[in-house]
Amino acid sequence: MNPWIPSAAFSVAVMISGFGPQTEKADQPILKDAFGTHFLIGGALNDDVVAGKDPDAALLVQNQFNTITPENVMKWALIHPEPARYDFDASDRLVAFGRKNTMVVIGHTLVWHNQTPGWVFEDGNGKPLDRETLLERMRDHIHTIVGRYKGTVQGWDVVNEALDEDGSLRQAPWMKIIGEDYIARAFQFAHEADPEAELYYNDFSLENEPKRNGALALVRKLQSQKIRITGVGLQGHYKMDWPSPMQVQTTIEAFAGLGMKVMITELDMDVLPDPTGHQGADLSIRAERREELDPYTGELPDSLQFALAERYAELFRVFVGQSDKLSRVTFWGVYDKTSWLNNWPVRGRTNHPLLFDRNYRPKPAFLAVIKTGTREK
Ligand code: XIL
Repeated sequence: MNPWIPSAAFSVAVMISGFGPQTEKADQPILKDAFGTHFLIGGALNDDVVAGKDPDAALLVQNQFNTITPENVMKWALIHPEPARYDFDASDRLVAFGRKNTMVVIGHTLVWHNQTPGWVFEDGNGKPLDRETLLERMRDHIHTIVGRYKGTVQGWDVVNEALDEDGSLRQAPWMKIIGEDYIARAFQFAHEADPEAELYYNDFSLENEPKRNGALALVRKLQSQKIRITGVGLQGHYKMDWPSPMQVQTTIEAFAGLGMKVMITELDMDVLPDPTGHQGADLSIRAERREELDPYTGELPDSLQFALAERYAELFRVFVGQSDKLSRVTFWGVYDKTSWLNNWPVRGRTNHPLLFDRNYRPKPAFLAVIKTGTREK
């Protein structure tokens, strides 16, 4: 059988699942029910969803998800744009949306090298800050934000993307100015601010062995220093041919072996031609748009739609099989139209990485995923 041609049974199953917008389907299968006994399931939300500007997306989130993560609004540049100014409008909205809908709210992210203003690392004269002052600034930031949402944000991505692909520590400004204990200190500050909160290390391409080994060493080191770290987030910015299901399984098992809760925190599937060869989500890696890099500006062809469904299903079979170790699977977005992958690593393309299409309709991948979850634990 040609694997690129959907089987008749598959097509019928897709028809039964329905293609209408979520808003019209009372009988639509529900992700959070399908995985209810396995793990939480959710999405990253931008402010439009929360602020009422994208009501169809909000409805879809309310119907399908039981956990949410802010896609941007808790990042340093947005929540703390100037030294003496925090802006909590959008983050308060997101947390209130989560509470209203009894969803688990995740905080993303406290310490990262991207979407962090330059002033954070400089003194008033534009000179690099000294270690102690930067630690104090980090402490203030973490205490202010984690303190504000104490008891309402259940878990925090405390440190995001601290590792290079070879598993060594990334030479981020945090690292250069403070030194490698910036990571331990960030976790310590977060723990002080909310002793009950779960605290995570979050990164991409931990499925690759060298980087995974770096992260395992990092977790072991924090544990040996008695620093509270409760989980590891695998971002899950995946490609059609990377990582393999076995790589994902090995990675989940490795972190769980250290007593970590494991989460898939930013799941999406890039279906477009990749001009970079990069396995992961490094924002600094970019390429110019060319016609041939943007082949599916209309509908995704059936063959690829089917391949995407199969790809999602093979990953979710691993997630369900590992569900005693996996506490959450969060998609990085809600529906294709507003996915960040329309603009990274190439700006202005039409990508199709999620379970819901540009019209909020479930794609074949949605049903394929649902089917992996119906088996009881
Ligand atoms: C992305 C957002 O989706 C975009 O809207 C923003 O312009 C850049 O950041 N890893 C992460 C996320 O941890 O915070 C990033 O989110 C994607 C890669």
